[in-house]
Amino acid sequence: MNNSILVVLITLASAGSAFAQSATAPSPTFNKDVAPILYKNCTTCHRPGEIAPMSLLTFRDARPWVKSIGAQVQKGAMPPWHADPAYGEFLNDRRLSAAEKDTILRWVNAGAPEGDPADLPAPPAYTEGWAIGEPDAVFAMQEDYPLPASGTVAYQYFEVPTSFAEDRWVQAFEVRPGDRAAVHHVIVYTRAPAPPAKPQPAAGEQSPRPRQQPAITFAAGMEIPDGQTGGKPLPDGERRNAGPNDRPAPKQLGPSVGAYVPGNGYRIYQPDTATKLVAGSTIIFQMHYTPTGKATTDRTKIGLIFAKTPPKTPLVGTALINGALHIPAGDPDARVDAEMTSTATSSRSVEGCLVGWRMLGGASFLPLGLPRGRSRFAGRWSNRA
Ligand code: HEC
Repeated sequence: MNNSILVVLITLASAGSAFAQSATAPSPTFNKDVAPILYKNCTTCHRPGEIAPMSLLTFRDARPWVKSIGAQVQKGAMPPWHADPAYGEFLNDRRLSAAEKDTILRWVNAGAPEGDPADLPAPPAYTEGWAIGEPDAVFAMQEDYPLPASGTVAYQYFEVPTSFAEDRWVQAFEVRPGDRAAVHHVIVYTRAPAPPAKPQPAAGEQSPRPRQQPAITFAAGMEIPDGQTGGKPLPDGERRNAGPNDRPAPKQLGPSVGAYVPGNGYRIYQPDTATKLVAGSTIIFQMHYTPTGKATTDRTKIGLIFAKTPPKTPLVGTALINGALHIPAGDPDARVDAEMTSTATSSRSVEGCLVGWRMLGGASFLPLGLPRGRSRFAGRWSNRA
C-alpha cells in the first residue's frame, strides 16, 4: 500500500473515535485537560517575555483569547508549523495530535470551563538559564553595542577569539541575545586560523600551494552583489562611510556554528552528529538589529556543549542563497530559485534546515540536486492555509 493512503486512513480512524467519545464524555476543562496541552505545545512562546503576543500560562491569561484559540487551532495555524506533511516527516514537528486538537476545540465549544483547581498540573518551570543545559564554553560579544532608537542598522559583525588547543565538536549550541527586542537574527560563523605561511618559492619555481577552492559556488546569475555580505568588496572609493560604530564584515567567514531567530535560538543535535570548531578559530557574530523605538545596547552570546568523541556524522552549516533575489513589484506569486554547488567530494545529505521568510513568503521547496539529473524533494514549507 502507498504510504500517503495509509496516513489518510489513520487520520480518519482517530477522528472517528474522538467523535464517538465526544458524544458521551464530559466537556474538557482548562485545569484537567487543556492546561497540559498548552504547557506542552504553546507556552514556550506564549508566556511573559517571549515572542508571542500574549501569555497562555494560566486560565486568566487564556480566557480572553478562547475564541481566537479555537479559530487558530481549528485551521492548524497554531502552533506554527509550515512543513508540508506530504514531503516527509521532520524532527521537532510542532503540530498538535488529532486528540489534542479535539480536546481544545471541545473545550472552546463548551464555553471554556475552568474546572477543579485540584486538577491543575504544575506549570512548566522555565529557567532564565540555558535551555541546552550548562554550556562547556560561552563566547560573548566584547562590547555593549549601542543601538539607536530608530533608523536602519546594517548587519554588524563582532569577532571573538577562542583558545582551544585542539579541535572541538559542537553537539549543542544556544544563542542568547542581550536585548531580545532589538535582535532580528544572529548567525554565528567560525573562521579557522590561517595556515602557517609557507616559505617563498625560489625564483623561477612554481608555488606548491594549490589555490584554495571555495566551499560552495553560486549558480550563474545568483551571485551576491559586490559590497553585500558574502559578495566581493566594493573598491575603496565606493565604500559607504558608516560612522564610528560600524563593525563591517570581515574578509572571510567560515562555516556557521549557530544561529538565532526569535523563537528559535538553540539546537541539540542528534547523537553522533556535531559541527567542527577548529582549534584557534575566531567566532564571528553576524548581527541583524532592528531598532525598537528606544535607544539600547546589545551584547549577544553563544553557549556551546562539546561532544566527548568525534561524531560519526560531521555537520557543516551553510546558507542556500540567491544573492540576486528579485521580486517584480505587485507579483503575488513570484518564484525565486536558489542554487549553489557544494565542492565537497564526499556525499552530503540535509540534516536540518531553517527556512527564513519575511511575512510575504508563500511556499518554499528544498529540492536536493543529485548526480545525473535526478532530484528529490527534501521538503516543502507553505505559508498558505
Ligand atoms: C513558536 C512559537 C509559538 C507557539 C509554539 C505557539 N504560538 Fe501562538 N502565536 C505565536 C506568535 C508569534 C503569534 C503572533 C502571530 C502574529 O502576530 O501574526 C501567535 C498568535 C497566536 C494567536 C492569535 C492571537 C490573536 O491576535 O488573536 C493565538 C490564539 C495563538 N497564538 C494560540 C496558540 C496556541 C493555542 C498554541 C499552542 C497550541 C500556540 N499559539 C503555539 C507564536 C507561537
